[in-house]
Amino acid sequence: MTDDRKWKTVFEPYKIKMVEPLGFTTRAERLQALQKAHYNMFNLPAEKVLLDFLSDSGSSAMSSAQWAGMLGGDESYACSRSFYKFEKAVKNLTGFKHVIPVHQGRAAERVMFSFLGGKGKVTLSNSHFDSTRGNILSSGAQAVDLPAKGAMDFAKAEDFKGNMDIPALKEAVKEYRASNVVMCIMTITNNSLGGQPVSMANLREVYKICHAHGIPVFLDAARFAENAMFIKLREPEYKNTPVREIAREIFTYADGCMMSAKKDAFVNMGGFIALNSDEWNDRARQSLILGEGFVTYGGLSGRDLEAVAVGLNEVLDERYLESRLNSIAYFGAGLRKAGVPIVEPTGGHAVFVDANSFLPHIPRNEFRAQALSCALYLEGGIRSVEIGMLAFAQRDDNGNFLPSDIELVRLAVPRRAYTISHLDFAIEVFAHLAGHKDDIKGLKIVKAPKALVNLSAELAPV
Ligand code: F0G
Repeated sequence: MTDDRKWKTVFEPYKIKMVEPLGFTTRAERLQALQKAHYNMFNLPAEKVLLDFLSDSGSSAMSSAQWAGMLGGDESYACSRSFYKFEKAVKNLTGFKHVIPVHQGRAAERVMFSFLGGKGKVTLSNSHFDSTRGNILSSGAQAVDLPAKGAMDFAKAEDFKGNMDIPALKEAVKEYRASNVVMCIMTITNNSLGGQPVSMANLREVYKICHAHGIPVFLDAARFAENAMFIKLREPEYKNTPVREIAREIFTYADGCMMSAKKDAFVNMGGFIALNSDEWNDRARQSLILGEGFVTYGGLSGRDLEAVAVGLNEVLDERYLESRLNSIAYFGAGLRKAGVPIVEPTGGHAVFVDANSFLPHIPRNEFRAQALSCALYLEGGIRSVEIGMLAFAQRDDNGNFLPSDIELVRLAVPRRAYTISHLDFAIEVFAHLAGHKDDIKGLKIVKAPKALVNLSAELAPV
């Protein structure tokens, strides 16, 4: 904890006022549930899940202050009191001129790319999140990832593996021509590459280069607070800077942001766009009204706006952030000790297990990460998500799925919802699996749609 004295125990800096029972099942019930779900985690009923690490999105526990804020929500159709609280909180944090509420992150992306995309246009990013890429591609534009060199070397620990590759950015600006690049998107933290942080130096440099070429920079700020805390802990010049100031500085290296508030603002639903451009603001508002709602609620209730306003402030508590990052590191260290290969170092919101290294006995085309994910559920009732063959869904001309160099199982930890003893249990289950690897068998596809394969594919044991 941030205190005069350094104690070793990792603990939650809050006490629990409201509880919900976990979903206990027998092994026989889990096998039946898995078969019924066609070995797809997205089809498992949550009540049959003991620990749910499918996503850290929308799964946080809200604070008593957030619940209190919700009771005070103003549900007026236009210009509600809650909107102004929300707007003030976002402006305080980001410093941007205009604030537009949306119901979640992908709605922000859809609104922006409804007028920014199109054929011949390009976006550059340290890594586009799936829904961001999807919205850009469906507009006809191209989405180009420029991750730091070494980001794919999972075993190697480096401080800022979420960074943008600066030489590659300079090259890409030349190759695609600045006039075609509609924006550069910095995803903080870099979810697709293990929840790894981006350094302030990298954000500053990207902004400088983009501005020299007239390219706007936007942040995908879903996990900005976790990223800010990593900067404090790992970038020496920020060692003594309050994390709130670090967060504010991050936003000065951008012209706008899109945020899914379902992550670092602890809400179950919500998001926003914040930006400086008057022209883009006008166009975004028009698109918002068509798809999300009036400009002062954008798909959210007054009470949701209240919860975001409180959450954005709460998340910058350094004791919370330190405990959050420490608990993920604790989870990773436990798995490492149990002989489970993970993406190093651990990121801000999840531990990623490398199924290619863990289960080399399963043939490469038999969905190693999905097989591990299913084994984890069967053994311990733990739900995780595959990032591998199924998520990437590359196929040959006959429709057969192609093996992937990346076969990860993501254990995303919901904020404030689980305790260290839950993580201890998950580590114990993994230790058991590590001792019985040969019992884990590969999977085959039974049925797969053309798009959004991982969400609805049906599989079976080989
Ligand atoms: N950007 C990032 C970096 C994300 O991680 C997500 C969602 C989004 C945008 C989209 O936001 O879900 O509110 O529409 N990530 C979730 C996850 C789904 O499990 O990682 P959304």
